[in-house]
Amino acid sequence: MSPSEKIDRAKIVPTILTEKHDLSGFSCTNEDINDFIHNEARDFQNERLGISYVCMYADRIVGFVTLSMADLKKERMGSEDKLQIGKENYPALQIGQLATCKDLESRGIGTFLCDFSLGMAYKLFEKVGCRFLVLNAKEDVIGVYEQYGFKLLPDQKKRREPVMFLNIFSKKQTETLKD
Ligand SMILES: CC(C)(COP(=O)(O)OP(=O)(O)OC[C@H]1O[C@@H](n2cnc3c(N)ncnc32)[C@H](O)[C@@H]1OP(=O)(O)O)[C@@H](O)C(=O)NCCC(=O)NCCS
Repeated sequence: MSPSEKIDRAKIVPTILTEKHDLSGFSCTNEDINDFIHNEARDFQNERLGISYVCMYADRIVGFVTLSMADLKKERMGSEDKLQIGKENYPALQIGQLATCKDLESRGIGTFLCDFSLGMAYKLFEKVGCRFLVLNAKEDVIGVYEQYGFKLLPDQKKRREPVMFLNIFSKKQTETLKD
């Protein structure tokens, strides 16, 4: 595979992390995330604080993400993004520890992980009630998420990992119009 070649999305298989997965060979460019993946992910999952998914590609783990429930405070949002309904906290799905293995960056795995998380949010959107995807962005990858459609909450400059959100209803409408 040449360095710029996109990975074949049809061959990426996302699956819930189990005891059978060997995470020792997985490494992304962020050491905090590597530490979580290697030392904390299983405990988080056992306590149901976050369910982790690994992306398998030809028997290799190439991507990782942890999903959990969250809420988004209306008062922290810009007026253009607030919903016109009397609810102070909006239900949301939190993306955490999203990571691509170092040697396969920029081949579409990060986008696949966002699409996978959005797909999960749609299921909650239909069956439970979930309006936003949220995440705490590492500073150097804010652009990756903006490109995907996430927005920064206002007044986040002092935060090390600013909150970003995506209104999945708008994203759904946009995708539907594209189809
Ligand atoms: C952030 C990360 C998951 C992106 O994964 P990836 O597999 O390289 O993402 P993709 O290949 O799908 O790239 C998505 C787009 O963002 C761009 N991009 C990738 N890394 C980027 C970066 N660091 N800064 C700006 N843009 C970037 C790509 O060029 C691509 O744009 P394109 O579709 O126009 O080509 C990966 O860099 C990573 O694992 N980083 C370390 C862990 C981390 O910081 N995670 C974020 C936690 S908030």
